[in-house]
Amino acid sequence: MKILVEKKRVEAVRADALLLYHFEGEKAQLPKTERIDRLTGGLIREVIKSGDFKGGLYQTALLYNHKGNPAKRILMVGLGKKGEFTLDRWRGTAAKGAQVLRDLGVKIFATPLVEGLTQRMSLETIAQGLVEGVSLGLYEFNELKTRNREKRRKVDKMFILEEEPRNLHAVQRGALTGETIVQGVYLARDLVSRPGNLQTPTMMARTAEGIAKECGLKLTVLEERDAKREGMGAFLAVARGSDEPAKFIVLEYEGRGNSSGTVVLVGKGITFDSGGISIKPSDRMQLMKNDMGGGAAVLATLQVAAKLRLPIRLVGIVPCTENLPSGKAYKPGDVITSLSGQTIEIVTTDAEGRLILADGLTYARRFKPDAIIDLATLTGSCIIALGDRVTGMLGNNGRLKTRVKRAAEFTGEKVWELPLWEDYQEQIKSDIADMKNMGGRSAGTITGAALLSRFVDKTPWVHLDIAGPVFTEKSLPYIPKGATGVGVRLLVHLLRDWTQ
Ligand code: BES
Ligand code: MN
Ligand code: ZN
Repeated sequence: MKILVEKKRVEAVRADALLLYHFEGEKAQLPKTERIDRLTGGLIREVIKSGDFKGGLYQTALLYNHKGNPAKRILMVGLGKKGEFTLDRWRGTAAKGAQVLRDLGVKIFATPLVEGLTQRMSLETIAQGLVEGVSLGLYEFNELKTRNREKRRKVDKMFILEEEPRNLHAVQRGALTGETIVQGVYLARDLVSRPGNLQTPTMMARTAEGIAKECGLKLTVLEERDAKREGMGAFLAVARGSDEPAKFIVLEYEGRGNSSGTVVLVGKGITFDSGGISIKPSDRMQLMKNDMGGGAAVLATLQVAAKLRLPIRLVGIVPCTENLPSGKAYKPGDVITSLSGQTIEIVTTDAEGRLILADGLTYARRFKPDAIIDLATLTGSCIIALGDRVTGMLGNNGRLKTRVKRAAEFTGEKVWELPLWEDYQEQIKSDIADMKNMGGRSAGTITGAALLSRFVDKTPWVHLDIAGPVFTEKSLPYIPKGATGVGVRLLVHLLRDWTQ
């Protein structure tokens, strides 16, 4: 879909549809909505008066007019109560409108920005939110369907209407930022949606190569023999059961004027998690193609950060492998030596994420980072604790955690902190090694993070467990069911905030 900012009045739009908004229970219509109302001889007033359309959140009403309005149709979308309005509701409203229009077969539509809110958010943010809502809401993963390709309905163009010349620049900037971020979220969703046979570690490395070429990043892909030379015993233990070559991906972006320091992102890149020898039950095992969602978010964030030219040094590390059982696979009871030199007793081969992350985090420290953030679909316990819409956050640095929370509030990606008290270390003590890779049934998300904490030492670090929100079984306002791309908007916003 093409997105264009146009200096035009709503009355002059000749598109297939004009998308307009209304706050629930407000007597007054929004100024631009009202102008169209007058132009159409009270069409909008009438539908509100009839009670058929009240402006309830995400409620829609399709109107056809014969009077002076050159747009073929008007689609009204409800914004809900004015006092409850948020940026996230705005994304959802925009998504809802665009979805209804797409399903009608509309190719070109135009819309103004919601008015009267610049006290609470900047015009730039409103424009960014519109683009995010519309584009993220229209996402579909169709590349593996060969039938009815031509028949699929797709919006070609959206015009964002802004009539004030002095506002154009801000609206354009917001729209452009939104588009760049959306590209990243689309990439992450595509990577997660692709099944394990297609999105192998090799394909992950190819994706990284594409990003590196496109954005001028430095790429290092450690092959298994390189990993062996480095001593990445934890990463390689997991990789041993698979015939797909494992890849340890490192992407580096050097923003200009990078006085903001260095941030390293580490993403779990298990392209399929069968559990290994400690094999998972077979029902729903297919969902374990999502187990590289953290890695996908890291690759996508590097792409977006580079395209936005953020003034920061950013490194993305994604250890990629499958976790499969075989005659060569690592086993419960094995003791392995990680890149850090610390030894780990394997209690279950299904706690593989923390192993590849352990070596990822150790490698991250070579860059002398000011902060390390890891993202991983690490534990089913996180879904038990927080549900499937919420990211679990644990870390060793209050300031960094506050920054993550702030970014999450902006992007609407829910994050909730769990404690990481020293007490939990007890649970991963091993009788024969430095630690074991599972801490029992209680506090599973925390003991996972407790293991990771041993590989970052004092570096400010946050761990985000995205096992729940990596995909959704139900469509959400601007997240169609399937892969969500969780983490990309959060990380990008955090980094933008960081560099301001
Ligand atoms: N990838 C899984 C975690 C997961 C489970 C993500 C369900 C999304 C949905 C991870 O590798 C895993 O298997 N974790 C185990 C750890 C346990 C054995 C200590 C878990 O959560 O059961
Ligand atoms: Mn597992
Ligand atoms: Zn896993």
